[in-house]
Amino acid sequence: MNIKEIKAMAPATEPARQKYFMEHVKARIAELAAEKGRPLTCFISTFGCQMNARDSEKLLGILQEVGYVQGTDENSDFVLYNTCTVRENANLKVYGRLGYLNGVKRKNPEMLIALCGCMMQEPTVVEKIKKSYRHVDIVFGTHNIFKLAELLFDRLYSKKMVVDIWEGTDAIVEDLPIERKYPFKSGVNIMFGCNNFCSYCIVPYVRGRERSRNPEDIVKEIETLVADGVVEVMLLGQNVNSYGKTLKNPISFAELLRRIEAIEGLERIRFMTSHPKDLSDELIEVMKGSKKICKHFHLPLQSGSSRILNIMNRRYTKERYLELVDKLRTAVPDIALSTDIIVGFPGETEEDFQETLDVVRKVRYESAFTFIYSKRTGTPAAAMENQVPEDVVKDRFDRLLKEVQDIAAEAILRDEHTVQDVLVEDLDSHEPGFVTGRLSNNTVVHFKGDASLIGKIVKVSLDEAKGFYFMGTMVE
Ligand code: 5AD
Ligand code: SF4
Repeated sequence: MNIKEIKAMAPATEPARQKYFMEHVKARIAELAAEKGRPLTCFISTFGCQMNARDSEKLLGILQEVGYVQGTDENSDFVLYNTCTVRENANLKVYGRLGYLNGVKRKNPEMLIALCGCMMQEPTVVEKIKKSYRHVDIVFGTHNIFKLAELLFDRLYSKKMVVDIWEGTDAIVEDLPIERKYPFKSGVNIMFGCNNFCSYCIVPYVRGRERSRNPEDIVKEIETLVADGVVEVMLLGQNVNSYGKTLKNPISFAELLRRIEAIEGLERIRFMTSHPKDLSDELIEVMKGSKKICKHFHLPLQSGSSRILNIMNRRYTKERYLELVDKLRTAVPDIALSTDIIVGFPGETEEDFQETLDVVRKVRYESAFTFIYSKRTGTPAAAMENQVPEDVVKDRFDRLLKEVQDIAAEAILRDEHTVQDVLVEDLDSHEPGFVTGRLSNNTVVHFKGDASLIGKIVKVSLDEAKGFYFMGTMVE
């Protein structure tokens, strides 16, 4: 069969179509490996959030299925950057790495370079790559990552750059191979996209409209994961609180959590990210009664000023946010709270910033991710005229960072000298003979132990708080 015939005979429906291309690519990769006398290697570098991390596991699953083995760095036969574009910095890093790859490819002209993820959903980025980064072989976006095998097939049999970006999609392709990073914990997508259009944020433009997976598919996936040794899942979505609204038979996020709680053998449930405007009393009730949902809630604040929140299109006020925090803490007293905060949104005054500091002091977050506002072309905020000068933003950022760090260091003391369940995640990278694990509330603890503990939940005495982590001793 020639290439045209192979393409013409491909099944029209997924996942059958991708499985078909995987078989054909696998045969070609095996030939190339035989020529080289060694297996072909692949390397994926992931930028950005947990969604991208999960996507990369799917991409690696496909690459391993077609015969690549995992390499350790960019000196691999197939290099893939799964990109992020939430802030300008993320884009700059990718361009920097692409410059470096140009040199690597000169030494190994047969290597393939692929780009995917959020940054590729921006037309100006793709234009720039087509024009100035000719050494790139495959470019795809966020909606068609399941198509990697087909795109690879196209590239292997043509000498041109393969570019395939979809503007949006209704499709959710299930049942493709996935290669998990950790055997004992896993991310699970419950929804894709975002409909909120916060005025600073590019995500709704690059990840498309909100789509929820069927609850049956989610439960089935988690049951399979548990049978395979997973004890902790992280349910992933841009706005998990609005899960299920777009389904044919709508169910709430709280109801989904009830169903997941019932899965035998699953020990811990985490989720991310919640939007305050959709945080329901029903969800708080489910958390209160749950044995498996971790005592950690990530609730992005973005700003403490109701005026700025309004311009950000966040659809809650400072008071409403504080009320939600009260409700959460009343229902689950030992819950740890974390947040995202942006400083320097257009028009932010010192008074607005003081409102943010006020919320930080009132809530006393266990941890907070602080960001300098980054102008994203195409978002409403980018067109606002009153951008805050860089030195003012930097000064506010430094003050905020100090405040959140001081508070976090105090908040952690609450658990000092208690004994807690800890899921052991890894060997301690700093101290031989030690392992690293996480409490239900997401705090990290290091203690004496060996690799046999990884993936187990053990009781650990939290002997000494060290800023944002503990040193402890295993007690059973
Ligand atoms: N500038 C700075 N931070 C941003 N975030 C999203 N968009 C921007 C932007 N344009 C932050 C928000 C969000 C987190 C994932 O990234 O705080 O919650
Ligand atoms: Fe961006 Fe807002 Fe959607 Fe989060 S909820 S992804 S900040 S638009």
